[in-house]
Amino acid sequence: MFRIINIAIIGCGFVADYYLTTLKNYPELKITGVYDLNSARCQDFAQHHGVNVYQSLDELLSDRQVQLVVNLTNPKSHFEINLACLLADKHVYSEKPLAMKLEEAEKLVELAEHKGLHLSSAPCSLLGETAQTIWKALREDVVGKVYVVYSEMDDGLVHKMPYKAWVNQSGIPWPYKDEFEVGCTMEHAGYYLSWFPAFFGRAESVTGFSSTLVEDKNTDIPLDHNAPDFSVACIKFASGVVVRLTCSIVAAHDHSLRIFGDRGILSTPDSWFYNAPVHIRRRFSIRRKMIVSPIKQKYPLMGTKTKYSYRGAFQMDFARGIAEIADAIREDRPCRLSARYSLHVNELVLAIHHATESNSTYQVKSTFEPIQPMTWAI
Ligand SMILES: NC(=O)c1ccc[n+]([C@@H]2O[C@H](COP(=O)([O-])OP(=O)(O)OC[C@H]3O[C@@H](n4cnc5c(N)ncnc54)[C@H](O)[C@@H]3O)[C@@H](O)[C@H]2O)c1
Repeated sequence: MFRIINIAIIGCGFVADYYLTTLKNYPELKITGVYDLNSARCQDFAQHHGVNVYQSLDELLSDRQVQLVVNLTNPKSHFEINLACLLADKHVYSEKPLAMKLEEAEKLVELAEHKGLHLSSAPCSLLGETAQTIWKALREDVVGKVYVVYSEMDDGLVHKMPYKAWVNQSGIPWPYKDEFEVGCTMEHAGYYLSWFPAFFGRAESVTGFSSTLVEDKNTDIPLDHNAPDFSVACIKFASGVVVRLTCSIVAAHDHSLRIFGDRGILSTPDSWFYNAPVHIRRRFSIRRKMIVSPIKQKYPLMGTKTKYSYRGAFQMDFARGIAEIADAIREDRPCRLSARYSLHVNELVLAIHHATESNSTYQVKSTFEPIQPMTWAI
């Protein structure tokens, strides 16, 4: 017999549809209502999904039924909304990041701890079948000692895509202005960075580079800030593993992960699919050569295949992180994606996002005269 946990949602934009769709997999989570600053959008959303509307943030926060608030507002509103919810004694599940500034995220975590409330952040893909399978394979040492990991979050030339026509199931457009202002590192680095501290322990250092390569994103409204659209970072974990993470909306689509061990390579094609396959390519020696097998073996996927009931470029169980907090409340235990864990991931993402070209980049002094191609190649 499960206890119902009452949740309220703030932010009825593009991503909210996906939450509502996957919430259907968790009958123990009951929506008391939704709220958005944009009241027309809130009404349409509530009607589409058959849920109640709160007329104001105060009304939502003073509803004593609400135990857990799901914050699906834009990143710039996360701190303010998360803070208000914690101050109103609500548990919080926030879309990424917890906050846009580290000091703000720290303040939220301290407040949540002080009040004995759960505070957790998306993405929750660590709780997905693919990440859990990779983690199990690592615990079982299937590829031997891991030295280095290559992870990619490249999404292609988004500014050349028909992004103004992207809409979700209930017709809400993709918020391109906000996405370009927040930047692909803040938006996407967490999809892999939220896996690695679970796999490899605490991160110790981040050496990064981030840059805005595309000045004109083809928007019809001017951007207040054109955030970095390319970043690369090396993250050193206390266990000695080094992860290289690349994020961009410039290079060709590639969401792959490769974990290089001394006995083989563990890989998956895409962190945005909770059921993406996990492969192993074993290393072996033939005479004087070390060879990586060209044959990819499938490592059996753990867990059950969840139904997502939507189509698209990702298949994520958005509601799983909310269900994890609900289980933690019911079982009176820490949440897997705890406030401290979420803060650690938030800190890593911010470090990469802010690693702009001028920060710590060595400026090259030497130069040379342009060289000519071979005459037969002109
Ligand atoms: N767009 C995606 O594909 C996607 C995917 C996964 C996660 N996310 C994350 O989800 C979050 C929301 O993104 P989105 O794409 O739904 O954005 P969106 O702009 O489509 O929707 C955000 C909604 O929040 C509302 N809002 C903003 N500040 C508010 C406040 N202070 N009080 C009440 N309502 C407020 C806005 O009016 C808007 O309707 C972001 O953190 C984003 O990183 C987005």
